[in-house]
Amino acid sequence: MSTSPTQIQLIQPDDWHLHIRDGEVMKDVLVDTARQFARAIIMPNLKPPVTTVDLANAYRSRIEASLTSSGITGFTPLMTLYLTDNTSADEVRKAKVGGIAAFKLYPAGATTNSDAGVSDIKRCYAALEAMQAVGMPLLVHGEVTSAEIDIFDREAVFIDQVLEPLRQDFPELKIVFEHITTKQAAHYVRDAQTGGKNSLAATITPQHLLMNRNAIFAGGIRPHNYCLPVLKREEHRVALLEAATSGSPRFFLGTDSAPHAKGAKEAACGCAGCYSAFNALGLYAEAFESVGKLDQLEGFASVFGPDFYSLPRNTQTISLVKQAQSIPAELPLGDATIVPLRAGETIAWSLA
Ligand code: DOR
Ligand code: ZN
Repeated sequence: MSTSPTQIQLIQPDDWHLHIRDGEVMKDVLVDTARQFARAIIMPNLKPPVTTVDLANAYRSRIEASLTSSGITGFTPLMTLYLTDNTSADEVRKAKVGGIAAFKLYPAGATTNSDAGVSDIKRCYAALEAMQAVGMPLLVHGEVTSAEIDIFDREAVFIDQVLEPLRQDFPELKIVFEHITTKQAAHYVRDAQTGGKNSLAATITPQHLLMNRNAIFAGGIRPHNYCLPVLKREEHRVALLEAATSGSPRFFLGTDSAPHAKGAKEAACGCAGCYSAFNALGLYAEAFESVGKLDQLEGFASVFGPDFYSLPRNTQTISLVKQAQSIPAELPLGDATIVPLRAGETIAWSLA
């Protein structure tokens, strides 16, 4: 590939971390994702959370109905369960048999709808034992929630206090460190000893590759750039971009696109989450191009994810063209609207 191509063709990508919510709004966000991705890992932080195989199957049926009503074919939701202090080993085994892709660990209080999350990981050891035994991946929101830990340090502290002990206790458990935001996380994943096993990976969002924490305060408070884990300093963005474009199969695409209505973001206590699904691939292409590494995009977006999850790679392809696309100021979201990431700006890459 030349260093500055104007068109790139990729195996069709998947999104390994996505929020689509439920009900009316789901339809509006699913179309954006399905335009670009063949599959997506669907986050279970609904209200109430998706904690059982039965709840996940019901949610999958609602997603499928929504896809059908929008005339979308060729998109597969990969369902996850929300880990709680009470998740049983039996539910884990049932999930494996029932085609659930992973469990999600939200430390209680870490983010949107995480109140029912795990209060102490030790309470989950029976479930984790079963996950390790059956080869069920654990997806972690890697932040400690203690009030005395600075919000910008929560991820780095999580590595020391939770993740490293967890990996010591469950060396063969497949873990995805979700939406990493720091150089500590990027280096931890890069350097982890896994005994030759494919047992640790990380997803990276477009916003953490493109922005540092100044973006939350540029000329005034910018609620649409606020997500969790929160954007960090420039040195962290640089380390994440280096990891994503390194060609290491331990890093792959997960947008964490997290829709909240405009009014819920532009509020005295605004919700966390960036809506990146509208042109996520264009955003990733821009990030990779910024360091001359567009040739590494296909591995990150389309190859390393399915390999980690032991799923087949997609066989169809898609193309991106270097053609400026304006991102609308707002998009419909049920009976409200949503402000997409980079609203009102242009992105250099579009879907062909
Ligand atoms: O910013 C975020 N939004 N981070 C999360 O972990 C959850 C997500 C959401 O569900 O809105
Ligand atoms: Zn998320």
